[in-house]
Formats: sequence, structure tokens, C-alpha cells
Amino acid sequence: MWLEVILWLICGLIVVWALLDPISRVASAAWEILVPIVNSKPVDLRSEFGDWAVVTGSTDGIGKAYANELASRNINLILISRTLEKLEATKKEILQINPNIQVKIIVADFSKGKESLCNIETELKDFPIGILVNNVGKQYEYPMYLGEVPENELWDIINVNVGATTLMTRLVINGMKNRGKGAVVNISSGSELQPLPLMTVYAATKVYVGSFSEALRAEYSKFGLTIQHLTPLFVNTKMNAFSQRLQVSTIFVPNAATYAKNAISTLGKVNTSTGYWAHGIQNFFTLIPPVWIRMKIGQIMNQILRNDYFKEKKQ
Ligand SMILES: NC(=O)c1ccc[n+]([C@@H]2O[C@H](COP(=O)([O-])OP(=O)(O)OC[C@H]3O[C@@H](n4cnc5c(N)ncnc54)[C@H](OP(=O)(O)O)[C@@H]3O)[C@@H](O)[C@H]2O)c1
Repeated sequence: MWLEVILWLICGLIVVWALLDPISRVASAAWEILVPIVNSKPVDLRSEFGDWAVVTGSTDGIGKAYANELASRNINLILISRTLEKLEATKKEILQINPNIQVKIIVADFSKGKESLCNIETELKDFPIGILVNNVGKQYEYPMYLGEVPENELWDIINVNVGATTLMTRLVINGMKNRGKGAVVNISSGSELQPLPLMTVYAATKVYVGSFSEALRAEYSKFGLTIQHLTPLFVNTKMNAFSQRLQVSTIFVPNAATYAKNAISTLGKVNTSTGYWAHGIQNFFTLIPPVWIRMKIGQIMNQILRNDYFKEKKQ
């Protein structure tokens, strides 16, 4: 009789243990949808984090939209990208949105690795950075098998997605710690949620960004810093130009402005989020099946996008 009870208890514990992880993942996905609804009061980013924000990769897509949003919230900006003309044009546009802020531009190519950081370090020396948006990111030209991706491109993806995020954070984190406030926003990707065939290296670099963000928060939250980890799904930007179906804005594939507006409104409220309510809903359902099923679905989806690329190239 006792043996039977113990066996049932052990079985029960195994079931609870097996369910704990998926339940907590799905619960936190639900949490990120609910928090902005329950707590809709906007955070005053300037007083909460500081007067200056740095946005990497800020002349296009999500980075540019983030810069516009931060400008409209009265934050002074430092924009970093590769192309001087695009930086100057973005600065001009931003000053039209808010002529009362200051905007500084820095030309840097993060694919050059550590050497790209020397100039940035000098340029940022005198600025108390309150918010760092680690947005810059590089993806394959289209979904590819590893052996098809040019070697230089793979190295650039690692330098940009992993290297820039890490070293830019290191550059500003001690200043934030000394001031006892600041936010680092790391734009990862939904592709970190499971291995992603045909975008293997891109997704793997985003797993790094996720792990880096979560551990960094454990290190620095006690010093008053916010480390936000964002995992957007598809956003209509030029990064996805390989498929026309991702170049049409819909509820589930928002344009960059919609994404950034939603994502910024979560800063200071939710630490880990897709950043956008409709992605939050997708994420909730995505996290229900086990990893191997999600990986298979991801592979099929990328094969479809790969076919799109070849079809569109032929036309
Ligand atoms: N779009 C999506 O569906 C999606 C989904 C999930 C996550 N994300 C993530 O969101 C972030 C932004 O993506 P996005 O789609 O907005 O990208 P995007 O439209 O391709 O814009 C990239 C920006 O980064 C700059 N840039 C590119 N390479 C650079 C380099 N080596 N050094 C410095 N700047 C560089 C570009 O300007 P220059 O060319 O002038 O340098 C541009 O301003 C990325 O981290 C991406 O992984 C995007």
C-alpha cells in the first residue's frame, strides 16, 4: 500500500516537473500581454533613465523608428550607423519631430569588430547615457544552408549581432551603474526561441543576446539598472526584403513605427517581451508545443520564404 502511494507521488512529481517549464513559459508570455493593459500609465523615460539615448543601427527599420519615438519623448539622441548621408538625413528628420532635443551622429561599422568601438568610446566619453538601444543586427540575405552563406557574411553576423551588443553595453554600463540608473534595451528576435534551420547562425546569435540580457539583468538590477530583452517576430523592414509577403504590413507583421511605439511603451514595465501585443499573442501560442515541433515549423516556414526568394528573383 505505502509503496503504491510513493510510486504515485513520484509519478505526480515527474508530471509536475515536466509541465513546470512550458507552463512558466506560457505564463510569462501571457504576462507580457497583460502588463501594458493593466499598467497603461506611460513611464517618463527621461527622469527614469536619463537625458541621452544611444541607438545602434538607427538609419532604417526598427532602429530609426526607435530614435523617432525617443525624440518624441524628449530624449537627446546619439545615432550610430555606417552611412554618413543616411545619418545626416535621419538627424534632420528627427529634429523636425522635436527641435528641442540634441542629436549627435557617429559613423561606425560594427562588422569591423572591436576596432569599430574605439571611435565610439572617444565620442561617447562626455555623455551620460541613460538608454542604450542595442538594435543593430544582421541577417542572411535570404534563408540559406550554412554552406551557402559567404564566409565573410557569417563573420559579420557574429560581429554585429553578438560583438556590438556586448561591447556597446560594456561601454556604457559602468556610467549607468555609477549614476544608479539607466536602461539597456537588447533587440533580439523570436528566432531565439528554438533552433531555426536555414537561419541557423542568425538564430544562434540571438540566443546569445537572450542569454546575455537575462544574466546581465541578474548582475545589474541591484544597481538600479533596467535590462530589457525584446524578441520581436516579423517586422516589415528591409531586413526581410527576401520575401514580398513580409514587405506588406499587417497586424502580425507591423511596420517599424508601430513596432517601436509599442515596444517603447513597455520599457520600464516588462523586462522580457516581444515588444508588440500581436507578437505577444503569437508568442503565447508558439510556446505551447515542444521545441522539436517548433523547430520543424520554423524550418518549413523558412523553406517557404526561401522559395519566395528564388521565385521573386526569377521574375
Ligand atoms: N525586421 C524583423 O523582422 C526583425 C525581427 C526580429 C528581430 N529583428 C532585429 O531588429 C533589429 C533591427 O532590424 P531591422 O529589421 O530594423 O534592420 P534593418 O532595417 O536592416 O536596419 C538595419 C540598420 O542597421 C544599420 N547597420 C547595418 N549594418 C551595420 C553595421 N555593420 N554597422 C553599423 N550599422 C549597421 C543600417 O544602416 P546602414 O546601412 O547605414 O549602416 C540600418 O540603420 C536587428 O537586431 C534584427 O535582428 C528584426
